[in-house]
Amino acid sequence: MTQKYLPLKDHETPVKVLFTGYLCAVGMGYFFALLQILFTHGMADGKFGLSVDDIVYSYYGNRSGTVLETQLNGAMKENATEDQRFKIIQWVRDGAELNDYKSTGIAAIVEERCVMCHSPEAATGVPDFTKFENLKALAAEDTGATFSSLTRVSHVHLFGISFIFMFVGLIFSFSETTSNKYKCIAIGMPYVFLVTDILSWWLTKVDPMFAWLVILAGMGMGVSFMFMWVFSILEMWAYRPIFIEGGGIYGQKLKALLAATFTPERRAWVLSVLALAMDKSREQWVNTISPLLKDLLNRLAKRSDGGA
Ligand code: HEC
Repeated sequence: MTQKYLPLKDHETPVKVLFTGYLCAVGMGYFFALLQILFTHGMADGKFGLSVDDIVYSYYGNRSGTVLETQLNGAMKENATEDQRFKIIQWVRDGAELNDYKSTGIAAIVEERCVMCHSPEAATGVPDFTKFENLKALAAEDTGATFSSLTRVSHVHLFGISFIFMFVGLIFSFSETTSNKYKCIAIGMPYVFLVTDILSWWLTKVDPMFAWLVILAGMGMGVSFMFMWVFSILEMWAYRPIFIEGGGIYGQKLKALLAATFTPERRAWVLSVLALAMDKSREQWVNTISPLLKDLLNRLAKRSDGGA
């Protein structure tokens, strides 16, 4: 039977190196993107780790407070002492008046603690606190992401991420161990999730109920990415040990790979590292992911109780 495309394992080594280099770079990019999400959105509610509250605060806002207050209790918490944060919040609640700005010592705190980052010289895209009106503007009700920031991030994401998945999907389309049906799913899903993701930001801006959709779409994209990534790499570099000699079942495939690659001592070391990783991920599950899912289910339950 003639093949309509060249399977991944049969590509010339230089092409495999190119594909692998791209996949590794993009994989690292993904990792840093997750870290960034953890440090920006993850801190929105003041607690480390991503939760539904973080998503709600980021997009819908914390409507019982002001932007300054939310930030001082969230992502900007570490930038001032307890006392200084309290003073600023007090001043904001009292109306953030220019008259009190200097006399209550807020100007000095901002000068000392905030301006090193919040000035035109320090960074672009961060509000400039050397101008009072910029600070004042943030003493208004916190309605989450602004329309303009959402449009900006939306188009950047749509263009950027579709490019990433274009090439990851193209590389993966040369794989031969996944049936056509599942290939179509794995290649198509990221685009469905990408559009859902963007849409869910806008929906969450309108109604906090949609925060769970942000998380779901993000996870969906991550899973499709991992799937394509792993199969592409394995087919290029470990086709024989895994897909021919490995037998049918997953565990056997992995054992075969280990046996082919590692001596017994090294294997024991790898297994101990794997065991440690499993332990850590179990911990992560218990401490972060599981409460997050519980919280999500609770909210949905509350929502359907109260909403109907
Ligand atoms: C280490 C640098 C740094 C310091 C110090 C810092 N900030 Fe920020 N701040 C940032 C960055 C970066 C952002 C943008 C974060 C983002 O876009 O997610 C930001 C965002 C904010 C925002 C949200 C702006 C918006 O448009 O939503 C507020 C409010 C804020 N900071 C207040 C403060 C206050 C008040 C202080 C001083 C107590 C302070 N920051 C100190 C780096 C800093």
